[in-house]
Amino acid sequence: MAAEAPLSQGAGLHADARSAQGKLDPATLEPSPLAEEAEAHLHQLAALGLEPSPLTQEAQAHLRQLAALGLEPSPLTQEAQAHLHQLAALGLERRVRLVSGPQGPEVLLDGRRVILLCSNNYLGLASHQVVCDAAAEAAHALGTGSGASRLISGTMEIHSQLERSLAEFVGTEACLLFGSGYLANIGVISALARRGDVIFSDQLNHASIIDGCRLSGAQVRIYRHLDVSHLESLLQEETACEEHSSGRRRIIVTDSLFSMDGDLAPLPQLVALAQRHRAVLIVDEAHAIGALAPLGRGAVAEARLTRQVDVLIGTLGKALGSYGAYACGSSPLIHCLLNTARSLIFSTAPPPPAIAAASAALQLLRSEPQLVRDLASAAKALRLALRENGFAVAESDVHIVPLLVGGAEDALALCQAALERGVFAQAIRPPTVPQGTSRLRLSVMSSHTPAQMQLAAAVLRQAALAVGLAPQRVGEPSQGLAPRR
Ligand SMILES: Cc1ncc(COP(=O)(O)O)c(C=O)c1O
Repeated sequence: MAAEAPLSQGAGLHADARSAQGKLDPATLEPSPLAEEAEAHLHQLAALGLEPSPLTQEAQAHLRQLAALGLEPSPLTQEAQAHLHQLAALGLERRVRLVSGPQGPEVLLDGRRVILLCSNNYLGLASHQVVCDAAAEAAHALGTGSGASRLISGTMEIHSQLERSLAEFVGTEACLLFGSGYLANIGVISALARRGDVIFSDQLNHASIIDGCRLSGAQVRIYRHLDVSHLESLLQEETACEEHSSGRRRIIVTDSLFSMDGDLAPLPQLVALAQRHRAVLIVDEAHAIGALAPLGRGAVAEARLTRQVDVLIGTLGKALGSYGAYACGSSPLIHCLLNTARSLIFSTAPPPPAIAAASAALQLLRSEPQLVRDLASAAKALRLALRENGFAVAESDVHIVPLLVGGAEDALALCQAALERGVFAQAIRPPTVPQGTSRLRLSVMSSHTPAQMQLAAAVLRQAALAVGLAPQRVGEPSQGLAPRR
């Protein structure tokens, strides 16, 4: 946790006063001077018509309980409370919402039925009967856990089978499973780059790529989002200094389909630059695998560049409806990763039911490519409906649609207003996206109907107007909307 002001300082004063509220001095059973001060302070606030926030009220209740038990919150708890207050004040506090039932086009959220527009279960396979049956059968036949790391006792036949199928599907010689996309990125990047190497990373790459770069200890050079000229100038600076750069590995790493922006990396140009500057190219297909039309083989395969990319990473947790991830590449490289990727070596292998579910999903994807086309159609329908309702979104069939708002509090207000009207589209705020670019990130599922898409777009329009946002000022960054800070 970042260093915070202790409770007794500055912004912590309110919390401090409230923390003492209701507390009795154990010796005299009189309120302590701090508690009295707190009461006075709360009276002042009440006189000014200022209500404590729900978070503060919750914290207060918690503290009262502790006080009643004669228990002081620990310094760490007090620090945590101060940190939460700061987040709430900035509109950056996060809460989980309770979903009942599977991640379908509609869900019961905190007990209310809403259209779900923020799940990455793009093809609905997480609750497909065939996939669920495969997971259940694997649990009965093979157990629920894999017992250990792949290198100790965890490599089961089911892992090897899925690795063969994925390598074939993606079009590479070999494949290695990881526990999750996050683990795959930190494991692969930190295995391939080390101190003295240099990584060129797109400004909007996913957090797991950023963390992998940090973990590697390599120098990291960030190029502007999708800006091939900027990347080229950074590579040129690097290669110009031959003496400095000799023996130094260069790595370019990018999402293929950007998770929060729904735009695509310029893959042909990245491949050309990697070749010209003898750089390794790593592409993360988390949101493209299984989801990009026509066949769901990912953006790299669609651009016919599989052989030119050194490592393709993907997750089993989104379109493939399960949990886990993979890295695909040449056989020697994958074998090397098996020996060097610490997030694989030192972590339990993915459980058999998850692997069986992903295997079944992959088979469905192969036998029912219509699923991918349905996703593209649903995305087109949502984008059209949003445009008809005045939002600034492009005409395309990409299933991720960001509605850029600007400030975190505006994004939260829009999310809440849409939810009250029956649409769940999550507000995405810093640090997930840069300051001033908070948004609703809409993601489509192949099972969304055109009627649901039209209703959702109309609701989003009403919600935007209700919170004072003009729909034409809300939409995709690619539509010329400048971030508002
Ligand atoms: C581009 C990208 N890579 C990796 C991940 C992490 O994948 P997982 O959820 O399997 O850990 C995500 C998750 O959102 C992602 O968007």
